[in-house]
Amino acid sequence: MNIIVCKDYDDMSKKAADLVISNMVEKPQIKLGLATGSTPIGLYQNLIKASDEGEISFRYARSVNLDEYVGIDPTNDQSYQYFMNENLFNHVKFDEGATKLPHAPEADEKYCKEYDAYLDEFGQRDIQILGIGPNGHLAFNEPSDKLNRRTSIVKLSEETIEANSRFFESREDVPKYAISMGMADVFNAKTLILLASGKNKHEAVKRLIEEDTIYPGLPASFLTLHPNAYVFVDEDAYRG
Ligand code: F6R
Repeated sequence: MNIIVCKDYDDMSKKAADLVISNMVEKPQIKLGLATGSTPIGLYQNLIKASDEGEISFRYARSVNLDEYVGIDPTNDQSYQYFMNENLFNHVKFDEGATKLPHAPEADEKYCKEYDAYLDEFGQRDIQILGIGPNGHLAFNEPSDKLNRRTSIVKLSEETIEANSRFFESREDVPKYAISMGMADVFNAKTLILLASGKNKHEAVKRLIEEDTIYPGLPASFLTLHPNAYVFVDEDAYRG
């Protein structure tokens, strides 16, 4: 696992984006795994800039996303689809149908099977971008005594509901369930790029870096098994 300590959020976003950009220049038909949440916004802004300046093109790129809330319409401004449109898709030129998020109008396993089938057809990603929850979750694979290998409907932990309530009017408005890629698919990428910024991520980052064990109580710990994982952290997340 390569740990890159960055000065601040902007430095982290730029350094991580440079890695994505160099991969996109090398392979225009790149397969990307994308994440939502506040952390990758700066990275996406750097990709938009590189695309505007003609350094990269999304014309032949394809993407899949990690997760989505259950029961939220993709046009709802709290949906992850809306987030991706606002923060990346509306600003770069992906081909029609080249991007995909999981979607579950209700908590039914059939939507998980549909997404698994899509992921199987999509195949291994070149790059998977990841954030980390303050509790060490990856995508919405919450700390537990066991983790799902494939896509599942997940009950969000109280900690995650609390952390994500900042995006909603009240805590009660945060959906209780999400549809999330499972651990086997999260790691099915040649390169993993995990971003962590801010003091509230310090505890999770410290455990990820310092503990020499892997266990489902810290989903991010499985990152240490991947042969090509990069962890970009800013000083606040690294030192607390
Ligand atoms: C989002 C996702 C989540 C977030 C994590 C951190 O697609 O999979 O695991 O990466 O909750 O979120 P932020 O970046 O908002 O702190």
